[in-house]
Amino acid sequence: PIEERIEHLISLMTLDEKIMQMNQWTYGKNANPNNIGEKMREVSPEIGSLLYRSTNPEYRNQIQKKAITESRLGIPIIFGFDAIHGYRTIFPIPLAQASSWNTELVKTSSAITAKESWLSGLDWTFSPMVDVARDARWGRVSEGYGEDPYANSAFAVAAVQGYQGSNLNDKYTIAACLKHFIGYSLSEGGRDYHYSDISNQTLWETFMPPFEAGVNAGAATLMSSFNDISGIPASANHYTLTEVLKNKWKHDGFVVSDWGSVRNLVEQSVAEDLKEAAQKSFMAGIEMDMVDNAYIDYLPELVEEGKVPMTSIDEAVRRILRVKMKLGLFENPYVDVVSEKERYLLPEYLEIAEQLSAESFVLLKNENETLPITSKYKNLAIIGPMVKDSVHIMGFWEGMGRPQDVKTIYEGLEKEFKNKATLNYALGCDYDGEDKSGFNAAIQAANKSDAVIIFLGEKRHWSGENGSRSTIALPKIQEDLVEELKKTNKPIILMLSSGRPLELMKLEKMADAIVQIWQPGTMAGPAVAGLLSGRHNPSGKLAMTFPQTTGQIPIYYNMRQAARPTLGHYQDIPRDPLYWFGHGLSYTTYEYSEVKLSSKTITKKDTLIAEVTVSNTGNHDGKETVLWFIKDPFASISRPIKELKHFEKQTIKAGDKVVYRFEINPEHDLSFVDSEGNRHLENGDFYVIVNDQKVHFKLVD
Ligand code: IFM
Repeated sequence: PIEERIEHLISLMTLDEKIMQMNQWTYGKNANPNNIGEKMREVSPEIGSLLYRSTNPEYRNQIQKKAITESRLGIPIIFGFDAIHGYRTIFPIPLAQASSWNTELVKTSSAITAKESWLSGLDWTFSPMVDVARDARWGRVSEGYGEDPYANSAFAVAAVQGYQGSNLNDKYTIAACLKHFIGYSLSEGGRDYHYSDISNQTLWETFMPPFEAGVNAGAATLMSSFNDISGIPASANHYTLTEVLKNKWKHDGFVVSDWGSVRNLVEQSVAEDLKEAAQKSFMAGIEMDMVDNAYIDYLPELVEEGKVPMTSIDEAVRRILRVKMKLGLFENPYVDVVSEKERYLLPEYLEIAEQLSAESFVLLKNENETLPITSKYKNLAIIGPMVKDSVHIMGFWEGMGRPQDVKTIYEGLEKEFKNKATLNYALGCDYDGEDKSGFNAAIQAANKSDAVIIFLGEKRHWSGENGSRSTIALPKIQEDLVEELKKTNKPIILMLSSGRPLELMKLEKMADAIVQIWQPGTMAGPAVAGLLSGRHNPSGKLAMTFPQTTGQIPIYYNMRQAARPTLGHYQDIPRDPLYWFGHGLSYTTYEYSEVKLSSKTITKKDTLIAEVTVSNTGNHDGKETVLWFIKDPFASISRPIKELKHFEKQTIKAGDKVVYRFEINPEHDLSFVDSEGNRHLENGDFYVIVNDQKVHFKLVD
């Protein structure tokens, strides 16, 4: 019936009404040509979509009412916004979420984001970002799930399921948007918005899988990206947007352009003017124009001139109406209006936020069991610009998160260590600049303490959109502060908050313990304090490699095999990065049994069962993630050194043990794609890799 209703509606629509559906307006104070202003009377009842940056559901309902009652056909508006890692309850940034390896928590946090968003008037979030990221200079690595295609796929599915629930028609669910389609993260040199040179092999092997997984999970929409793909901009790319997405993957929702990416085709020198840009992006397969007004202004004449067929216009409108119908907007166009207290920051949301933050923290180093802080430390020096911060700690794209709702690290520590330890706080220095006047107070605080905990990191806009950096080291002033504090001979604990992997070559040597806390969001304080006290046992593992130096970029665990693997690395730094993908310690110790395989030889039709038993041999209960890799040593196309194919996180009580299992399905886990996206499964040798174990098996006819 949905399809019949859509066809009926389309048969009644004029060309102008159709094109209105294909445009997204903005709201609020900005200078965009398509800004509807803040007064309702300025809103046309015929508009298709609104980028709604507001926490006012009543006003949204009024605008919606105007569309329903005053437009000729009563078509509802779809309201979208960037709720990327939370709406008002802010969860850790996606790169941190991936380091938790907890897909259930990510799904739950996405469902909370959906509920807070829906109750604020939204139907649609521009999330998840599933751009596989291998260049930490690129600021937007913070918004995705790291360097691995399989991890990005798993978290793409978790986020889509969380936002969209089991039925988009239900209350509190919102449409997801996989972005940025495609290849954005490979912008040359990590410079945002720049050219990407991507071979078809890499496109299929590395960048497509998370999008395909998200599409298969039912993601209603996608957003096109700003970059080129080897000369054809992603926002004018018929191959990716139509041949792959619509024809091969059968996606039946719609694609929205990124903010200005239609107009950008002129800058990218593939369109002479905005009219040609509109034609190219529309004909490539972008159904909705965000911000540019290019479709509104030029599609009517492009249709008139025969350059854009009416059948294509109808198909675009069909896709947009389909999403609106699936969302139930025709039957239930309005959201419930409840008080802000019932809408935001509910205790159970905050609990999930703390848990996800704590599980995303990665204990990078812990010499001599410096952490957790036990009763041997009676006085703690708490130093650094991050300690009392409530802005940068939320990270970029903080939705409608407010600093006043953030539990700062200082607040968390005060509560956690009340009656247990004295906190000696000093700012030390700012995030950057040259002012060292705070160093003395920091040294004094350190001198009267048993351990020195230093909270350093990046400001929120140092990562995120347009947040590229030429170096991923922290500013010199922060490194100098640590150097001075090291001279006090107290244990040094570094707590690092950033939206990307950091260059720690200098700092690592000076620290007894290092914890990467990313940008944890609203519940930063309790999560960090709980980790320091041992209430939270760290269980995060890096979803992105930390290089030795910025010059070592790109470096990622699943690089393709080099011709001379032991040679060719940089002479002035060690061959390996400082911390590989998957690195992460715990307060407890785990022992892995020998990996057992159900057979040493399998055929394409068999399932191979791999099992490993992990024992918690330490004194803390913990959660351990087992990462299962496959290595294919010889194939007709050179394979990566190893590839993640499965992961599982389980709780293991101290003294207990748990069996982890990976069911290897040859078609799924041993095959690879060629440069056209066709799968190949070749007989021969394979290895299952878990930690340092590498177990051989064979695939035969
Ligand atoms: O969703 C974002 C996108 O990721 C970057 N440009 C702006 C869009 C809408 O805010």
